[in-house]
Amino acid sequence: MKPFSLIPLTLLAIGCQTTPDTPTLKEHFNDDFLIGAAINVPHVNGADPKADSIVTRHFNSIVAENCMKSEEIHPSEGVYHWDDADAFVKYGEERGMAIIGHTLIWHSQLAPWFAVDSTGSNVTPDVLKERMRDHITTIMTRYKGKIKGWDVVNEPILEDGSYRQSPFYEILGEEYIPLAFQYAAEADPDAELYINDYGMNAPAKRDAYVKLVNDMKAKGLRIDAIGMQGHMGMDYPDITEFEKSIEAFASTGANVMITEWDMSALPTISHSANISDSVVYNTQFNPYPNGLPSEISDKWNERMTAFLNLFKKHSDVITRVTAWGTQDGMSWKNDFPMKGRVEYPLLFDRNYNLKPFLMNELNTNELKYLTK
Ligand code: G3I
Repeated sequence: MKPFSLIPLTLLAIGCQTTPDTPTLKEHFNDDFLIGAAINVPHVNGADPKADSIVTRHFNSIVAENCMKSEEIHPSEGVYHWDDADAFVKYGEERGMAIIGHTLIWHSQLAPWFAVDSTGSNVTPDVLKERMRDHITTIMTRYKGKIKGWDVVNEPILEDGSYRQSPFYEILGEEYIPLAFQYAAEADPDAELYINDYGMNAPAKRDAYVKLVNDMKAKGLRIDAIGMQGHMGMDYPDITEFEKSIEAFASTGANVMITEWDMSALPTISHSANISDSVVYNTQFNPYPNGLPSEISDKWNERMTAFLNLFKKHSDVITRVTAWGTQDGMSWKNDFPMKGRVEYPLLFDRNYNLKPFLMNELNTNELKYLTK
């Protein structure tokens, strides 16, 4: 890896002719890990041809940003909405990609019927188990042989290491997680199974995941990877703590995946992690509506370089690095935790150009996205 400063940013910004043999991210990281992006329904439906070119050219893995969440794919009991998920899978198949399903059991965007009866009260443990089994089995069976791996359970543990008080936990207790993995392994024995969460650098959370995964393995359950989402900012997470978590997770024998990588370049706003809790707009927290000042951009690129180098250092256990989106303009971060900010968190900017830290990594001054 060359020092970040070897290619001046001003030179990078000039750009030059592209040639067919200019490097791609997927070729460059071929011996390290899969390199992926989350894509949404408009993307799959062709709404953004330039983003399509980026994904087709640079990535060898995709994950569904929203269309496989229970609220979307299973809105009423026994009623499945397959169109968007089918189109997402077809998109990946046509491009020969490693397709990742996200997510089977998650408290957020949970279909409103899932854990309650007709009076609105929580269902019994047996009913919830049966609903989980049916949901997991129906979806995984449909995509058997097409989807490489699933985020089976998403975000079940809090920063202090305690279990999130989700409807699943309230009704079934800790057992809902092993049960979900059991149902998933039965539904598609060949699919990889992942547990996925944010804030994985927190020591208590790290310890809780190591215990959870070791306990599941002791019961004979299969769990192939621990997903570290990797939603970052300029002042979090601490890279040393993040590395400790990579090492601790690898000690369980499971692989590690960076599943939802992005880094906010804007001032950090303290907030709840609940997507429905948006903070009221305040221009003070949207300081760069017309572009990042170079000193901020340089700092952001240096920090992304540091994390990328960390991922490469641990590429023996990190099997996939996935960005949570394609280009800055479509990131969820533009609307969270405050709606209407102009964010810069992804690997490509709003003009579909590679960010400087990746141009440096690829040793290229090619800005563009051309499809191969
Ligand atoms: O689909 C509806 C649409 O019908 C409606 O008209 C529109 C009006 O607001 O909303 C649409 O739903 C939105 C959905 O994204 C699809 O665009 C929701 O409001 C919005 O809250 C939802 O946000 C997603 C969020 O998860 C909640 O599911 C983000 O796009 C997505 O990036 C984000 O992804 C999560 C991961 O799944 C788990 N880890 C954290 C990550 C970031 O929050």
